Formats: sequence, structure tokens, C-alpha cells
Amino acid sequence: MSEIDTENEELKILLVDDEVNITKALRRLLMDVDQYDIYTAISGKDGLEVLADEPDIGVIISDQRMPEMTGVEFLQEAREIVPDAVRILLTGYADIEASIAAINEGAVFRYLTKPWDDETLLKSIAEAAQSYLLVAENKRLNALVQKQKKDLHEWNNRLKQRVLDQTSQIRNKGDELALSNQQLRGSFNETIESLAGLIEMRDRKSPGHSRNVAELVTIMAEKLNLSQEEKNQLRSAGLLHDIGKIAMSDNLLGKSTSNMNSKELHEYQNHVIRGQAAINMVPALHDIGVLIRHHHERFDGQGFPDKLKGKAIPLGARIICAADMLERKLSQVPESDACASALQELETEWGKSLDPGLRMVLEEGALEVYSYLDISTNILEKKVSPKGLEAGMQLQHDLFSGTGVLLLKQGTVFDENAIAAVKRCFMIDPFEQDICVLLKDDESE
Ligand SMILES: [Fe+2]
Ligand SMILES: [Fe+2]
Repeated sequence: MSEIDTENEELKILLVDDEVNITKALRRLLMDVDQYDIYTAISGKDGLEVLADEPDIGVIISDQRMPEMTGVEFLQEAREIVPDAVRILLTGYADIEASIAAINEGAVFRYLTKPWDDETLLKSIAEAAQSYLLVAENKRLNALVQKQKKDLHEWNNRLKQRVLDQTSQIRNKGDELALSNQQLRGSFNETIESLAGLIEMRDRKSPGHSRNVAELVTIMAEKLNLSQEEKNQLRSAGLLHDIGKIAMSDNLLGKSTSNMNSKELHEYQNHVIRGQAAINMVPALHDIGVLIRHHHERFDGQGFPDKLKGKAIPLGARIICAADMLERKLSQVPESDACASALQELETEWGKSLDPGLRMVLEEGALEVYSYLDISTNILEKKVSPKGLEAGMQLQHDLFSGTGVLLLKQGTVFDENAIAAVKRCFMIDPFEQDICVLLKDDESE
């Protein structure tokens, strides 16, 4: 069945009778009904040709008695061409039995007898028309639903594909971004490490001080469950905390604070402000600058430069202050059992210069960072050239380049990166001393 506009289009009716007078009479009768479009044929064969040209005929009314092809035969063939058309047989009383059989076989919708009663005939045709239109409307709606389902399915698939494409694009961009962030972070760290090397080159009496402080504050930050960003910040601040000392005179750098006069002490204390000012031009280092400024504040409010007290001192600065003090004490105590002795010396500082809340993390962190100071019996010392370095070896003494730049601090455990860096430096600025490393005796064989 072809689709028809069931509301606006006229319903097509085919009248088939070998007696032209009959088709004329029927046409006249049906013409009074506006919504019918009438077609006529004078035989079954003629009727089939009309149906082939007009496949949207909705109602067929055929005479039974016709030469060559009876009405039932014609309607049976018509069913093949227009299966949805409603078929009505016009029959005389003598043919009623055959007509009923045709209805039972499904070839005919109903039969009407000749001569017909106009009103009954019009009513039957109207019912047939309504039946056809209902089926047509039902089919149209079904087709519409199927089309919408298909469209929705295709739309869904397109949407799904688009989401997949976009997700993959976002993932690729994310990977690129992560890689570039990692590279950026790597070169940022290298720059900070280089600056730390400069500080240590200037302050020869405290080799490895900045790196030791950085390592200790990183472990403390981890134990305090600080965020990765805070840990990174704290490590950088640990490396740079004494950057303000670069501008201090050699004379002042070599003196302990207890031997300084008031002018010298003022100059020394200014290293925290100079340190903050030195890196303040770089926006990414602002927060680190704040930690540098306050790393000599005391928990009791007697520190410098701003005499901040207790929790008013940024946590990062309190952490650096504790690590810095322990690191300075370590350089003043004998090497055997140095870590325990230095911690012992801090006993009286908790609650005064140091935040007592950090005591446990400092003590635990110190044992991890300075474990190499307590050399156990199954650890052996070995001297190797840069070529002989292997991952896992631990540096026993600070390692300097030929011109005196501190390359790695005592206690560093070599990994592939550190080995590559030492080899690179050896090519540019060779050093003469062998590298003293520690290794467990089962690794030394
Ligand atoms: Fe300092
Ligand atoms: Fe320091």
C-alpha cells in the first residue's frame, strides 16, 4: 500500500462492471460524496490494469457476473496487487452462495445484492472506506515509528561515535599535556637544583646543607600527608631557603651567629628577606618565597624577620626551620651516632624555636635521611670511577666537580639519572678523586 494523506486526499474507488449503465449509476450515486475519487472498468482484465496504474485504490466494487473473468476471480487477483484495498462484490440473488464462499475465503470484504438500496450501498462503502483509512493510518503511523526508531538509532550511534572520538582526543591531549607538564616540572626542578648548587658553592662550610634540608622536608611532608603540590613546593623551598646568603660577604659566611656583632647579625638576618626578593620576580615561586622569608621565625615568636608566632608561621616554614636546625646541629656533632646526638641537642628547642607538633615527623624523617651515618658491619666502602658506578650504590662523601661545584651530597643513592649526570659532568669538568661509595657486602663480590 502506498502512503496516502488520510485527512486531505480523496479516497480512490474502482467500479468494475461489464454493464456500463451500472457503473454510470454507481458513479452518479457516489459523486455526491465529496471525498471519493471514482475509477471505472468494464471487465476484470481492465480493472487489473487500472489497479496496476493506481496502486492506492482503497475500495473496489465489482460485479460478479462478467464474461471471461468473474467478479470473485477478479477480486482474488486484485488482492495480489492491492492487498489492503477493501473488496466488495455486487451480486444477484442467484450467485449469493458463491459470494458467501468468496467472503469466507477472504477474497471479498462483503457482498451487496443487485438491485441495491442506495442508502445501504453508500453506508457499506463508507464503512469500507473507513476500514481502509484506519488500516492506512495505522500503517503510516507504524512506518513513522519505525523511521523514528531507525533515525534515533542512527543518531545514537553517531552520538556514541562522537563521544568516543572526543574522549580519545581529550585523552590524547591529556597525555600530551601530562608529558609537557612533566617535562616542564623536570626542567623547573633542574633549575632549582642548579640554584641550590650555587648556594652550596658559595657557602663552603655547609656542603650539602640545602639538599639535606630539601630531602628531610620532603620526607616530613610525606609523613604529614601533605598534597603533592605542597610537597613539591616544600622541596623547592628547602633547596632555596638560604639563597639570600649568596650576597653575604665571605667573612660573614664563615662566622657563627654567636660571634657576630649587631651590624653583622642584622646583615645575616637579612638573608631571609633577600632570599624572598631574589625569587619574587618569578610568579611560580611566590609561595616558595614566603616559606623562605619565614624559615627563621621561632614558634615562641622570638625569631626573624617578622616575629611571627605559633601557627601564624606558615606550616612549610616551620618544617624547614626544624629540618634546617637539625641539619646545622649535625655538622657540629661527632660523626658516630651523629643523628641521635643532633636530635638529642634539639630536646630543649621544642615549643621554643620549634613547633612541638613536628617533633615525631622530624625524628622519623631524620632516621631515614641520615641512616648512612650509622654504618653497619655488613656495609662495605669501595672506590670507583664514574664508569664503575652502578644503580643502588650510596655516595659516602659529598662529590665535587673538578672546579669545586657540589654535584651530589653524601648519602645519595645512585640511580640511572644520577649516574648519567655524574658521567656528563666528568666529561665537562673532570675531577681527580675516585668516588667513594658504600655497598652491602653481599653486593661487593
Ligand atoms: Fe637560613
Ligand atoms: Fe639553612
